[in-house]
Amino acid sequence: MLSTRTLSRRSVFAAGLAGAAGLAGLTACGGDSETAGAEAGSGSITVGFSQLGAESGWRTANTESVKKALTSANGFDLTFVDAQQKQENQIKALRDFITQDVDVIAFSPVIETGWDEVLQEIKDAGIPVVLVDRTVDTTVEDPFATWIGADFEQEGKTAGEWVAKNAPDAKVFELQGTLGSGAQVDREKGFDAGVGKQVVGKASGNFTRAEGKTAVEAALQTYPDATLIFSHNDDMALGAIEAIEAAGKVPGEDIRIVSVDGVRDGLQALVDKKINYIVECNPVFGDQLAGLIKKVAAGEDVPKKTIVQDQAFDQTTTQSVVDGRAY
Ligand code: AHR
Repeated sequence: MLSTRTLSRRSVFAAGLAGAAGLAGLTACGGDSETAGAEAGSGSITVGFSQLGAESGWRTANTESVKKALTSANGFDLTFVDAQQKQENQIKALRDFITQDVDVIAFSPVIETGWDEVLQEIKDAGIPVVLVDRTVDTTVEDPFATWIGADFEQEGKTAGEWVAKNAPDAKVFELQGTLGSGAQVDREKGFDAGVGKQVVGKASGNFTRAEGKTAVEAALQTYPDATLIFSHNDDMALGAIEAIEAAGKVPGEDIRIVSVDGVRDGLQALVDKKINYIVECNPVFGDQLAGLIKKVAAGEDVPKKTIVQDQAFDQTTTQSVVDGRAY
Protein backbone atom coordinates (compact mmCIF):
# COMPACT_ATOMS: atom_id res chain seq x y z
CA MET A 1 0.00 0.00 0.00
CA LEU A 2 1.62 3.23 -1.12
CA SER A 3 -0.80 5.71 0.30
CA THR A 4 -3.40 5.91 3.01
CA ARG A 5 -5.23 8.65 1.14
CA THR A 6 -8.19 7.44 -0.82
CA LEU A 7 -10.97 8.88 -2.93
CA SER A 8 -13.43 8.59 -0.04
CA ARG A 9 -11.14 10.68 2.15
CA ARG A 10 -11.03 13.26 -0.64
CA SER A 11 -14.82 13.29 -0.95
CA VAL A 12 -15.26 13.87 2.77
CA PHE A 13 -12.80 16.74 2.57
CA ALA A 14 -14.57 18.26 -0.41
CA ALA A 15 -18.04 18.00 1.11
CA GLY A 16 -16.98 19.28 4.50
CA LEU A 17 -14.61 22.09 3.68
CA ALA A 18 -14.90 23.21 0.11
CA GLY A 19 -18.52 24.30 0.19
CA ALA A 20 -19.48 27.11 -2.09
CA ALA A 21 -15.86 28.21 -2.52
CA GLY A 22 -15.18 25.10 -4.61
CA LEU A 23 -11.72 23.59 -4.70
CA ALA A 24 -11.72 23.86 -8.46
CA GLY A 25 -11.52 27.62 -8.03
CA LEU A 26 -8.24 27.49 -6.12
CA THR A 27 -5.13 28.01 -8.18
CA ALA A 28 -1.46 27.66 -7.41
CA CYS A 29 0.98 30.53 -7.91
CA GLY A 30 4.68 30.70 -8.74
CA GLY A 31 4.30 30.21 -12.49
CA ASP A 32 1.54 30.13 -15.06
CA SER A 33 -1.38 28.35 -13.43
CA GLU A 34 -4.48 26.82 -14.96
CA THR A 35 -7.32 24.93 -13.33
CA ALA A 36 -9.44 22.86 -15.67
CA GLY A 37 -11.45 20.30 -13.82
CA ALA A 38 -14.72 19.01 -12.54
CA GLU A 39 -16.85 20.58 -9.82
CA ALA A 40 -15.62 20.17 -6.26
CA GLY A 41 -17.16 17.29 -4.39
CA SER A 42 -18.09 15.44 -7.59
CA GLY A 43 -15.81 12.53 -6.73
CA SER A 44 -13.09 13.48 -9.17
CA ILE A 45 -9.42 13.11 -8.25
CA THR A 46 -7.80 16.46 -7.54
CA VAL A 47 -4.32 16.60 -9.03
CA GLY A 48 -1.75 19.35 -8.70
CA PHE A 49 0.69 19.05 -11.60
CA SER A 50 3.86 21.17 -11.67
CA GLN A 51 5.32 21.08 -15.16
CA LEU A 52 8.92 22.32 -15.21
CA GLY A 53 8.53 24.62 -18.21
CA ALA A 54 7.98 24.86 -21.95
CA GLU A 55 11.62 24.79 -23.02
CA SER A 56 11.38 22.30 -25.88
CA GLY A 57 9.14 20.63 -28.43
CA TRP A 58 9.32 17.55 -26.23
CA ARG A 59 7.98 19.47 -23.25
CA THR A 60 5.11 20.98 -25.26
CA ALA A 61 4.10 17.51 -26.47
CA ASN A 62 4.34 16.12 -22.93
CA THR A 63 2.17 18.91 -21.52
CA GLU A 64 -0.43 18.31 -24.24
CA SER A 65 -0.45 14.60 -23.52
CA VAL A 66 -0.85 15.14 -19.77
CA LYS A 67 -3.66 17.68 -20.18
CA LYS A 68 -5.46 15.47 -22.70
CA ALA A 69 -5.44 12.58 -20.23
CA LEU A 70 -6.16 14.37 -16.93
CA THR A 71 -9.53 15.80 -17.97
CA SER A 72 -12.75 16.15 -15.99
CA ALA A 73 -14.35 13.66 -18.39
CA ASN A 74 -11.71 11.15 -17.26
CA GLY A 75 -12.43 11.87 -13.59
CA PHE A 76 -9.71 14.42 -12.80
CA ASP A 77 -9.73 17.94 -11.41
CA LEU A 78 -6.35 19.23 -12.59
CA THR A 79 -4.45 22.29 -11.44
CA PHE A 80 -1.58 22.71 -13.90
CA VAL A 81 1.30 25.09 -13.18
CA ASP A 82 4.16 25.90 -15.58
CA ALA A 83 7.30 26.66 -13.53
CA GLN A 84 9.14 28.34 -16.41
CA GLN A 85 12.27 26.25 -15.69
CA LYS A 86 12.67 27.73 -12.20
CA GLN A 87 12.93 25.43 -9.21
CA GLU A 88 11.64 28.12 -6.83
CA ASN A 89 8.45 28.30 -8.90
CA GLN A 90 8.03 24.55 -8.63
CA ILE A 91 8.53 24.57 -4.88
CA LYS A 92 5.98 27.38 -4.53
CA ALA A 93 3.48 25.43 -6.65
CA LEU A 94 4.02 22.26 -4.59
CA ARG A 95 3.35 24.19 -1.38
CA ASP A 96 0.19 25.62 -2.91
CA PHE A 97 -0.93 22.09 -3.77
CA ILE A 98 -0.44 21.13 -0.10
CA THR A 99 -2.60 24.09 0.92
CA GLN A 100 -5.25 22.97 -1.55
CA ASP A 101 -5.02 19.47 -0.05
CA VAL A 102 -5.10 17.85 -3.48
CA ASP A 103 -5.43 14.08 -3.67
CA VAL A 104 -2.21 13.59 -5.64
CA ILE A 105 0.76 15.81 -6.44
CA ALA A 106 2.56 15.14 -9.72
CA PHE A 107 5.63 17.01 -10.90
CA SER A 108 8.55 16.97 -13.34
CA PRO A 109 11.53 18.18 -11.30
CA VAL A 110 13.66 20.65 -13.25
CA ILE A 111 16.82 19.44 -11.45
CA GLU A 112 17.45 16.47 -9.19
CA THR A 113 18.47 18.11 -5.89
CA GLY A 114 16.96 20.73 -3.58
CA TRP A 115 13.63 19.03 -2.88
CA ASP A 116 14.21 17.66 0.63
CA GLU A 117 12.23 20.26 2.55
CA VAL A 118 9.19 20.42 0.32
CA LEU A 119 9.06 16.64 -0.16
CA GLN A 120 9.05 16.22 3.61
CA GLU A 121 6.20 18.76 3.86
CA ILE A 122 4.22 16.83 1.25
CA LYS A 123 4.88 13.59 3.08
CA ASP A 124 3.81 15.12 6.41
CA ALA A 125 0.58 16.24 4.72
CA GLY A 126 -0.02 12.64 3.61
CA ILE A 127 -0.27 13.48 -0.08
CA PRO A 128 1.18 10.90 -2.47
CA VAL A 129 3.67 12.10 -5.08
CA VAL A 130 3.88 10.88 -8.66
CA LEU A 131 7.16 11.83 -10.34
CA VAL A 132 6.87 12.54 -14.04
CA ASP A 133 9.71 12.38 -16.59
CA ARG A 134 12.64 13.35 -14.36
CA THR A 135 13.83 12.04 -11.02
CA VAL A 136 14.91 13.48 -7.64
CA ASP A 137 17.96 12.95 -5.44
CA THR A 138 16.72 13.40 -1.88
CA THR A 139 17.35 12.37 1.72
CA VAL A 140 13.61 12.01 2.34
CA GLU A 141 12.71 8.37 2.85
CA ASP A 142 10.25 6.89 0.38
CA PRO A 143 9.56 10.33 -1.17
CA PHE A 144 7.28 9.26 -4.03
CA ALA A 145 4.69 6.62 -4.77
CA THR A 146 5.72 6.04 -8.36
CA TRP A 147 7.73 7.48 -11.24
CA ILE A 148 7.07 7.37 -14.98
CA GLY A 149 9.60 8.45 -17.58
CA ALA A 150 12.30 7.41 -20.02
CA ASP A 151 15.55 5.56 -19.36
CA PHE A 152 17.86 8.55 -19.91
CA GLU A 153 21.03 6.57 -19.26
CA GLN A 154 20.07 4.04 -21.92
CA GLU A 155 19.35 6.91 -24.34
CA GLY A 156 22.90 8.18 -23.79
CA LYS A 157 24.27 4.66 -24.24
CA THR A 158 22.37 4.18 -27.50
CA ALA A 159 23.74 7.50 -28.81
CA GLY A 160 27.25 6.41 -27.79
CA GLU A 161 26.88 3.05 -29.53
CA TRP A 162 26.07 4.83 -32.80
CA VAL A 163 29.16 7.02 -32.42
CA ALA A 164 31.37 4.03 -31.57
CA LYS A 165 30.17 2.21 -34.69
CA ASN A 166 29.86 5.06 -37.18
CA ALA A 167 32.31 7.74 -36.02
CA PRO A 168 34.99 6.07 -33.90
CA ASP A 169 37.55 8.76 -34.78
CA ALA A 170 35.24 11.74 -34.28
CA LYS A 171 36.10 14.45 -31.78
CA VAL A 172 32.91 15.08 -29.86
CA PHE A 173 31.49 18.26 -28.38
CA GLU A 174 28.75 17.36 -25.87
CA LEU A 175 25.86 19.83 -25.78
CA GLN A 176 24.38 19.21 -22.35
CA GLY A 177 20.83 19.81 -21.16
CA THR A 178 19.97 21.74 -17.99
CA LEU A 179 22.86 21.04 -15.62
CA GLY A 180 21.82 18.91 -12.66
CA SER A 181 18.66 17.60 -14.36
CA GLY A 182 18.10 13.86 -14.48
CA ALA A 183 18.03 14.02 -18.28
CA GLN A 184 21.45 15.72 -18.43
CA VAL A 185 23.13 13.68 -15.71
CA ASP A 186 22.00 10.28 -16.98
CA ARG A 187 22.36 10.89 -20.73
CA GLU A 188 25.90 12.10 -20.13
CA LYS A 189 26.62 9.08 -17.92
CA GLY A 190 25.39 6.64 -20.54
CA PHE A 191 27.16 8.36 -23.45
CA ASP A 192 30.46 8.95 -21.66
CA ALA A 193 30.57 5.36 -20.40
CA GLY A 194 30.83 4.26 -24.04
CA VAL A 195 32.68 7.00 -25.91
CA GLY A 196 33.73 9.51 -23.21
CA LYS A 197 37.31 9.31 -24.47
CA GLN A 198 36.19 10.97 -27.71
CA VAL A 199 34.67 13.99 -25.93
CA VAL A 200 36.87 17.08 -26.34
CA GLY A 201 34.54 19.61 -24.69
CA LYS A 202 31.13 20.16 -23.07
CA ALA A 203 28.76 23.05 -22.40
CA SER A 204 25.10 23.39 -21.51
CA GLY A 205 22.41 24.75 -23.82
CA ASN A 206 19.71 24.36 -21.14
CA PHE A 207 17.56 22.24 -23.50
CA THR A 208 16.56 25.32 -25.56
CA ARG A 209 17.20 26.10 -29.22
CA ALA A 210 18.50 29.64 -28.50
CA GLU A 211 20.95 28.56 -25.80
CA GLY A 212 22.01 25.55 -27.85
CA LYS A 213 22.90 27.89 -30.71
CA THR A 214 24.88 30.20 -28.40
CA ALA A 215 26.76 27.28 -26.84
CA VAL A 216 27.74 25.89 -30.26
CA GLU A 217 28.80 29.32 -31.57
CA ALA A 218 31.24 29.44 -28.65
CA ALA A 219 32.26 25.79 -29.06
CA LEU A 220 33.18 26.30 -32.72
CA GLN A 221 35.76 28.82 -31.49
CA THR A 222 36.94 26.89 -28.41
CA TYR A 223 36.99 23.40 -29.97
CA PRO A 224 37.72 23.99 -33.68
CA ASP A 225 38.77 20.33 -34.03
CA ALA A 226 35.31 19.01 -33.01
CA THR A 227 33.73 16.91 -35.78
CA LEU A 228 30.60 15.64 -34.03
CA ILE A 229 28.07 17.10 -31.59
CA PHE A 230 26.14 14.94 -29.17
CA SER A 231 23.15 17.09 -28.23
CA HIS A 232 21.03 16.08 -25.23
CA ASN A 233 17.90 17.17 -27.13
CA ASP A 234 16.59 18.07 -30.58
CA ASP A 235 15.90 21.72 -29.81
CA MET A 236 19.56 22.35 -28.97
CA ALA A 237 20.58 20.33 -32.05
CA LEU A 238 18.44 22.64 -34.19
CA GLY A 239 20.21 25.62 -32.59
CA ALA A 240 23.53 23.90 -33.31
CA ILE A 241 22.58 23.55 -37.00
CA GLU A 242 21.99 27.31 -37.19
CA ALA A 243 25.37 28.02 -35.58
CA ILE A 244 27.22 25.55 -37.86
CA GLU A 245 25.62 26.96 -41.02
CA ALA A 246 26.35 30.54 -39.91
CA ALA A 247 30.01 29.50 -39.58
CA GLY A 248 29.98 28.34 -43.22
CA LYS A 249 30.08 24.61 -42.41
CA VAL A 250 27.71 21.82 -43.36
CA PRO A 251 25.81 20.19 -40.47
CA GLY A 252 25.60 16.42 -40.87
CA GLU A 253 28.82 16.38 -42.95
CA ASP A 254 31.55 18.72 -41.64
CA ILE A 255 30.12 18.34 -38.19
CA ARG A 256 27.90 15.35 -37.58
CA ILE A 257 25.07 15.57 -35.05
CA VAL A 258 23.58 12.92 -32.78
CA SER A 259 20.55 14.00 -30.77
CA VAL A 260 17.80 12.82 -28.42
CA ASP A 261 13.99 13.26 -28.59
CA GLY A 262 12.56 12.70 -32.06
CA VAL A 263 10.25 15.70 -32.29
CA ARG A 264 8.97 16.51 -35.77
CA ASP A 265 11.48 19.36 -36.39
CA GLY A 266 14.33 17.12 -35.30
CA LEU A 267 13.19 14.28 -37.55
CA GLN A 268 12.83 16.72 -40.46
CA ALA A 269 16.47 17.76 -39.95
CA LEU A 270 17.38 14.05 -39.95
CA VAL A 271 15.55 13.48 -43.24
CA ASP A 272 17.27 16.63 -44.60
CA LYS A 273 20.61 14.98 -43.60
CA LYS A 274 21.54 17.75 -41.16
CA ILE A 275 21.23 15.44 -38.15
CA ASN A 276 22.79 11.97 -38.41
CA TYR A 277 21.02 9.98 -35.70
CA ILE A 278 18.25 10.55 -33.15
CA VAL A 279 17.50 8.47 -30.06
CA GLU A 280 13.84 8.84 -29.27
CA CYS A 281 12.53 10.10 -25.93
CA ASN A 282 8.78 9.57 -26.07
CA PRO A 283 6.77 12.35 -24.34
CA VAL A 284 3.32 10.89 -25.01
CA PHE A 285 2.52 9.02 -21.83
CA GLY A 286 -0.42 11.00 -20.42
CA ASP A 287 -2.75 7.98 -20.50
CA GLN A 288 -0.26 5.82 -18.59
CA LEU A 289 0.19 8.65 -16.08
CA ALA A 290 -3.58 8.94 -15.62
CA GLY A 291 -3.83 5.22 -14.90
CA LEU A 292 -1.08 5.43 -12.29
CA ILE A 293 -2.63 8.47 -10.60
CA LYS A 294 -6.00 6.71 -10.36
CA LYS A 295 -4.38 3.74 -8.65
CA VAL A 296 -2.30 5.88 -6.32
CA ALA A 297 -5.36 7.93 -5.32
CA ALA A 298 -7.27 4.73 -4.60
CA GLY A 299 -4.42 3.40 -2.45
CA GLU A 300 -3.73 0.53 -4.84
CA ASP A 301 -0.32 -0.99 -5.46
CA VAL A 302 1.64 0.50 -8.34
CA PRO A 303 5.07 -0.30 -9.76
CA LYS A 304 7.76 1.96 -8.32
CA LYS A 305 8.83 2.87 -11.85
CA THR A 306 7.36 2.75 -15.33
CA ILE A 307 9.79 3.10 -18.24
CA VAL A 308 8.35 4.67 -21.37
CA GLN A 309 9.54 2.79 -24.48
CA ASP A 310 11.84 4.56 -26.95
CA GLN A 311 13.15 3.76 -30.44
CA ALA A 312 15.91 5.31 -32.57
CA PHE A 313 16.04 6.89 -36.05
CA ASP A 314 18.89 6.94 -38.56
CA GLN A 315 19.15 8.65 -41.93
CA THR A 316 17.10 5.95 -43.65
CA THR A 317 14.08 7.60 -41.99
CA THR A 318 11.60 8.79 -44.61
CA GLN A 319 9.53 11.94 -45.00
CA SER A 320 6.36 9.93 -44.32
CA VAL A 321 7.63 9.27 -40.77
CA VAL A 322 8.04 13.02 -40.25
CA ASP A 323 4.63 13.76 -41.75
CA GLY A 324 2.97 11.17 -39.55
CA ARG A 325 4.64 12.36 -36.36
CA ALA A 326 2.09 13.55 -33.81
CA TYR A 327 4.39 16.16 -32.24
O1 AHR B 1 13.36 15.42 -19.47
C1 AHR B 1 13.19 15.18 -20.83
C2 AHR B 1 13.95 16.21 -21.62
O2 AHR B 1 13.51 17.50 -21.25
C3 AHR B 1 13.76 16.18 -23.12
O3 AHR B 1 14.64 15.34 -23.78
C4 AHR B 1 14.07 17.59 -23.46
O4 AHR B 1 13.74 17.97 -24.76
C5 AHR B 1 13.29 18.27 -22.42
O5 AHR B 1 13.58 19.58 -22.29
